[in-house]
Amino acid sequence: MLITFEGIDGSGKTTQAELLSRRLAQEGITSEVVREPGGTKLGEGVRELLLHRTDLHINPVAEFLLFSASRAQLVTEKVLPALKDGKTVILDRYFYSSIAYQGFGRGIPTRDIETISRFATGGLLPEVVFLVELDLETALERRRLAGRTNDRMEGAELEFFRGVIKGFSECAQNEPKRFVIVDGTEPPEKISDLIFEETIGRIKKVAEERNAP
Ligand SMILES: Nc1ncnc2c1ncn2[C@@H]1O[C@H](COP(=O)(O)OP(=O)(O)O)[C@@H](O)[C@H]1O
Ligand SMILES: [Mg+2]
Repeated sequence: MLITFEGIDGSGKTTQAELLSRRLAQEGITSEVVREPGGTKLGEGVRELLLHRTDLHINPVAEFLLFSASRAQLVTEKVLPALKDGKTVILDRYFYSSIAYQGFGRGIPTRDIETISRFATGGLLPEVVFLVELDLETALERRRLAGRTNDRMEGAELEFFRGVIKGFSECAQNEPKRFVIVDGTEPPEKISDLIFEETIGRIKKVAEERNAP
């Protein structure tokens, strides 16, 4: 079972991914939370380049390909082996973030992003995507309160983020069965309850489909 979290920075993805993993463990379901970009040695190097090397000028296509390289490594090195072991994998961002950020944010045609993402991931799709929706102002305020430094992605202008938010919302509209939209303004525990119920429901459904004659 592959579960992914999407949404803008500060929306609550990491919080929810960790909460879900903990609650699944209470049910005896082993899961692994993997973050993007990163999660592998190569990925951490790419993460450093993309998010912290503010001295580098990285053009949008190069940026997308670096994310894709990191993703390709993550899928083969981490995600597929864990799934093969029967674990539930919880991804903190996946290629939908590229559609939103590099596509809607930076203007790369989304068709190209989809094609290359399919290539990079071997066509691996999540069973469910939890899109944590939050307005930009609240997200920025939360990040400020958490004392997070502004990295390369966040230094970008507001217009860019409006595009990103629209991009996520269109991804959800295009795949209404795969996407579950959660309201990021709700308290963490309340959001987590909803995500947990939805996940358990989907795990049961997958198991039933497997056992069906
Ligand atoms: N539902 C919530 N309500 C209020 N604050 C939250 C909520 N979820 C997360 N936070 C806080 O907002 C900040 C960003 O959350 P985080 O999970 O790191 O977001 P993301 O991984 O999407 O960037 C953290 O300080 C976190 O404690
Ligand atoms: Mg996070």
